[in-house]
Amino acid sequence: MYPIVKKIIHSPAVKEFEVYAPMVAEKAKAGQFFILRVSEKAERIPLTIADYNREQGTITTIIQELGASSTLFGQMEEGDHILDFVGPLGVPSEIERYDHPVVLVGGGIGIAPIFPIARDLKEAGNEVISIIGARNKELLIWEEKMASVSDQLIVCTDDGSYGRQGFVTDALKDLYEERGQLSALWAIGPMPMMRAITNVTRPWELKTIVSMNPLMMDGTGMCGACRVQVGSETKFACVDGPEFDGHLVDFDLAIKRLSIYKDQEKRALAVLEH
Ligand code: FES
Repeated sequence: MYPIVKKIIHSPAVKEFEVYAPMVAEKAKAGQFFILRVSEKAERIPLTIADYNREQGTITTIIQELGASSTLFGQMEEGDHILDFVGPLGVPSEIERYDHPVVLVGGGIGIAPIFPIARDLKEAGNEVISIIGARNKELLIWEEKMASVSDQLIVCTDDGSYGRQGFVTDALKDLYEERGQLSALWAIGPMPMMRAITNVTRPWELKTIVSMNPLMMDGTGMCGACRVQVGSETKFACVDGPEFDGHLVDFDLAIKRLSIYKDQEKRALAVLEH
């Protein structure tokens, strides 16, 4: 069993958890994920690692309560225990030293997993420019943490309630006009946001890495639930990813696959609420 050692409520639906899982924390790297199951009857939830503390043996993650499983997890409190916590899974982010600035784009709770990648890129000696965005101020997380690992931080909200008004794609276009030469970009957030970012960077031929969050079951490459079309190949996000070359990902198919169990999900949430 894995105890929750800290819980922070960022907004009614966005919760941060620090979980004591020393074996996972010992090996965790930026870009990887883990799968948890809060109790015997609950579904497995794949979550990208937002931070880790090897000394204290903890893993940090941020969730947004959308379906039944994330809502169940979101209701847990400090001192509660998670039944299963498996990881770290997936391939870590490839960190290297680039000649020109690297850009990190985080949307919504995608800001959390972009943080350790930004930190590692900064530690590797890169100039790090981060763009973070959310629908509104209430949903914006980790501004200070992102500022601490960025040479420049641009904050956007869709409704203009904080930072510059508009989407992260608008901020990116302005940045490219100002800076021109960029070496690589990482984007993590909702699939439509990642698709929009790849559409912006494709004509620039800018290396663009996205972190895919498809449905997952076993997380070990056996079930095929997490398949993603990348160029002419079918990849499994759990073992080949979750990071892929964004310009090769078939986002339309990935978005379609995500909604396969929408009706079942709605029913499960309704059962939980009554
Ligand atoms: Fe089963 Fe990836 S989750 S193959």
